[in-house]
Parts: sequence; C-alpha cells; structure tokens
Amino acid sequence: MSLQLVQKGMKPPVSLTHNLLNPPHNTLTMIETYDITKYFMKRKQGTGIWDRILRRGIEPVKAVDHINLKINKGEIFGLIGPNGAGKTTFVKILSTLILPDSGTASINGLDIIREDSLVRNQIGVLPGEFSRSLYWRLSGKQNLKFFAELYNIRDDSRIDYLIELFGLEEWEDELLMRYSTGMKHKLALARALLNDPSVLLLDEPTAGIDPQASFEIKKLVKSELSDKTVLWTSHNLYEVEEICDRIAMINKGRIVLEGKPDDVKREGLEYETITLVVEPGESHWFSSVENAEITNEYLVVITSSNLKKTLKKILDITEDHGITIKDLRTTAPTLEEVFIKRMEEEA
Ligand SMILES: Nc1ncnc2c1ncn2[C@@H]1O[C@H](COP(=O)(O)OP(=O)(O)OP(=O)(O)O)[C@@H](O)[C@H]1O
Ligand SMILES: [Mg+2]
Repeated sequence: MSLQLVQKGMKPPVSLTHNLLNPPHNTLTMIETYDITKYFMKRKQGTGIWDRILRRGIEPVKAVDHINLKINKGEIFGLIGPNGAGKTTFVKILSTLILPDSGTASINGLDIIREDSLVRNQIGVLPGEFSRSLYWRLSGKQNLKFFAELYNIRDDSRIDYLIELFGLEEWEDELLMRYSTGMKHKLALARALLNDPSVLLLDEPTAGIDPQASFEIKKLVKSELSDKTVLWTSHNLYEVEEICDRIAMINKGRIVLEGKPDDVKREGLEYETITLVVEPGESHWFSSVENAEITNEYLVVITSSNLKKTLKKILDITEDHGITIKDLRTTAPTLEEVFIKRMEEEA
C-alpha cells in the first residue's frame, strides 16, 4: 500500500533492486544505504468513524526520506535527531525488522532485503524498547541462554564471557525483574553481542540510565568493542560528540548534516563567540563591531563569522582609544547550538 501511495502522490520510488548489482567493493564500508525511504500511514486529525471505515482520513507520513549513508568498518557512527525524526525506523530497517518502501542497504556487502537471514548473522541489535525483548521472569543468565539457543550457541563460554564483560556475575542468577534499568541495558547489550556480530545497531543505548551506567556502556563500546562497527542513535548531543567518530543529524526523515563532530560544528554554524572583558565604562567603544552585544559596562559578547577580521577590528579599537583588554576568549559552537540552529532553519 505504501508503495502505491508513493507512486500516486509523492516522489517516484527508487527501484528496490537499485544498486544491488553493484555491491560495495570497498571492504572498509560495513553499512551502506541507498536512498532508503519508508512511509507510515497516519490518521488525519479530526477524522470520524466513517472516515476511518472508508480509510479516507489516512495520510502517509515519511518516516525515512531517501537516506544515503556510508559507515566504515570499526567506526562508531552517531545518528542524532529530535523525537519522531526517523531514527528508530532507520534502525529497524537495517535490522531487517521492517522493509523500506524504496531503496535498500547493505551490511558487510549483504543486501538487507534479499539476504536478510545472512544479514541477521552479521548484526547485533539493541532495540529502542529493548525491555520487551527480554524475559522478566527469567534470570539474566537464563535470558542469555534462551537467546543463545536461537543462534545455535550451545557452549556457555560465550555467555560467561559476556556476563563478565558487563560485570553482571553477581546478578546472573537473579530474575530480570529485580535488575535496575542500567543492568537491564547491559544485559540487552550482552544479548546483542551473543553472536559476536561485526555490526552493532544500538537504538538509544543510554536512554533512561544514570551517568555511571551510561559511562560504563560508552567505555565498553569504545574500548572492548572497538573492532565492531556501531550505529548509535541518541538525543544526547554531548554523548555523540564524545563517543562517535562521525555523526549525522536527522530531521523529518532526512539527513540534514553529516561528518566528524568538529566538521559538523563548523559547517553547521560558521561562527565563533568572542567574550571580551575591559575596564568598567569602556565596553561601549565596541558597539561598532558587527554583531556585538554590550552586556554591561565591562563585558562585550561578539558573534563572529570571520574571527580574524573581528579580532583585528577589536585590536584597532583598543589602540585608538587606549583600552586595556582584561580578558578575551573565543568559543566554538557546541553541537547543541548547531543542532538547534538547524532545527530552527528546518522549521
Ligand atoms: N508503526 C508506526 N506506524 C505509524 N507511524 C509510525 C510508526 N512508527 C513510527 N511512526 C512515525 O514515523 C516517524 C518516525 O518515528 P521514529 O520512531 O522512527 O522516530 P525517532 O527518531 O526514533 O523518535 P524518538 O526520538 O521519539 O524515538 C514519526 O512520525 C512516527 O510517528
Ligand atoms: Mg526512537
């Protein structure tokens, strides 16, 4: 149905076999997506019962909109975006849980649509609502044993290794219902690692857990799992900046910015903030500097898109009026500022 709708009203769908004949030859590329697009049907606001019966009040919502991404072997790639941006849908498509309406993707050279069962051997998934995928009335170890069976893993050594890796030895025989949220997160991550996957798809792996548990998970992914390729979705800009090699910002299903965190910051917001402290009563001399805000009689905050030029102007003023600079600092934009600005532009 979604495909028909795409054909009727929206952009023509990209063939599902698009690019399948040309799988990536670059062995360094572990995840590659080709124009992935996904629609969901949403009930229009204010529709009545008859509209529903006659399916009149339904409209398509583009959850993922022509996403093209390449993620390299061993990279931690962060996908950030606001609620409803399409992060979970994107992860579900790569996890082979739902099909895209058009486009496709490859994981370690395998197509997620044609070779879905082979893809599943390559990936470990931490779903957003992971607690539903664990059994609360089983112990931590029983949970891992159950899922190991599904992978035909009969040997307990992998389970013991993972329990130790996540520091859950003391809790392995406790029922999951007695675990803290942080421990459940760790167990869900251990579950995702049972088949020793080359690719980890983690949907908000640190959501709802305290800073200590979050720190431990980040440390583990960064150090112990450094051979894995990781897709990490988050709302937390500081977190992705800290842990990810590259990031992409997604909004309304579209990638709006992509690159290394530092490059994204520069690209997204080409300005730096200059904070200038002078002797009381001298700040007004700087009102002629472009984008200067005279905060009080000794503090000036300037937003500059050309740092060199602005600093020269400041020095000229200090020389001309015999002003003493008590402090001068420049601050690059944070990822959060870039994100907010992009969202404002999109709105
Ligand atoms: N099963 C579904 N049926 C209908 N619409 C859906 C379904 N799943 C997601 N959507 C819609 O698709 C869009 C993307 O949702 P998605 O859950 O992928 O976003 P998200 O970035 O993961 O958001 P969040 O940060 O809140 O987890 C939203 O508009 C959402 O309402
Ligand atoms: Mg989500």
